[in-house]
Amino acid sequence: MSRERRIPTGIAGLDRVIEGGVRDNTTLLVVGSSGTGKSTFAMQYLNYGLEHGENGLYISMEEPPEQIMREAKMLGFNLDKYYEKELFFFHSKGKDFVKLVDEQLPALVEMNKNFSVKTRVVIDPLTPLTWAIQDKQEQREVITKLFYTLKQLGPVLITTEEHAAPGETIGEDVLIPIYMSDGAVHLTYRPIGGAFNRALEIIKMRATRHGEEVYPYIFVRGIGVVVRTTPLVSAEDMRKYDDLFNKAIRTAADLGANETVLERLAYVKENWSYPFSPKETLQIFFESQGLTDALTKDEIARRKEESMPSDIQLDLKELSIKVPLESVVAEPEEEGLIEIDNLRDLEEMLQ
Ligand SMILES: Nc1ncnc2c1ncn2[C@@H]1O[C@H](COP(=O)(O)OP(=O)(O)OP(=O)(O)O)[C@@H](O)[C@H]1O
Ligand SMILES: [Mg+2]
Repeated sequence: MSRERRIPTGIAGLDRVIEGGVRDNTTLLVVGSSGTGKSTFAMQYLNYGLEHGENGLYISMEEPPEQIMREAKMLGFNLDKYYEKELFFFHSKGKDFVKLVDEQLPALVEMNKNFSVKTRVVIDPLTPLTWAIQDKQEQREVITKLFYTLKQLGPVLITTEEHAAPGETIGEDVLIPIYMSDGAVHLTYRPIGGAFNRALEIIKMRATRHGEEVYPYIFVRGIGVVVRTTPLVSAEDMRKYDDLFNKAIRTAADLGANETVLERLAYVKENWSYPFSPKETLQIFFESQGLTDALTKDEIARRKEESMPSDIQLDLKELSIKVPLESVVAEPEEEGLIEIDNLRDLEEMLQ
């Protein structure tokens, strides 16, 4: 199982806490009330792609391209130079988006099929579309089709305006787009003064181990948004628990865990990225797999037999099964060791 390639969003600081970026052909939704910085996010994202050899498609339902590029320039992004060469606009007014979703975009995807350059897509904002369709079922269908079509071009960023009622954390009108997206971030603005009144939270990010904090962000002309994050784990930290994992894998094998479980543990080892010990997680996992000291010798032998290829099973029967003990017995003084109670009993049983 190899890791999927990540595409940097170009939003300074965000990529650090989403495993390096978004996955290709996925949607990322940026939710925030008016003035939180959604358009800045969108331009920064698009600009990064353009500066790195990708094409860009900007779908706007309100502002015309000239106005968008003017605003981008004020933030320090010169989109003009890409205009109609690498950067294309769809400006769909009023009810036009039905035609956009049903005809124009699928035609564009078809045209792009054999085109090797990736297209980064932005919809800023999606709001007019969701407001124009009152019926929730129809809204869901149109959004599903829109997202499905655009994802074929490349990674998609969509912004949507929220109108949360007092006490709500996220307004009802954005629940469908959040549900339909692969990832979603929430921007909030609390005008209390000072440098930390804007904050970003990651609502979800499918197939990604993402940061779970509330991250302050600031606007910087020439960069756009800078999200103040700290990287999730250092490369050094990643390897800190290898010994513990190795021990856990040996213990699991000695308790008769099958190949799939052992492979899974090895995968967890490679991907563990929390700054804390995996000991408790492993204990819970072991228990969920029935790998406990309550296992009898016969049960362990049966499991081992079951998980072995048939030709090896024969040999083992002849040899009368002998489970190596050194790894079943925990070394008590070591930090983070998996504690399997009454290991002495188990040892006796196995002998
Ligand atoms: N350089 C800057 N310094 C301070 N604040 C800035 C800067 N650039 C942008 N802003 C703030 O960001 C706000 C607008 O950002 P942006 O247009 O990206 O937000 P938005 O969420 O798209 O808003 P809307 O709902 O109007 O579309 C501005 O109103 C301003 O408060
Ligand atoms: Mg905007």
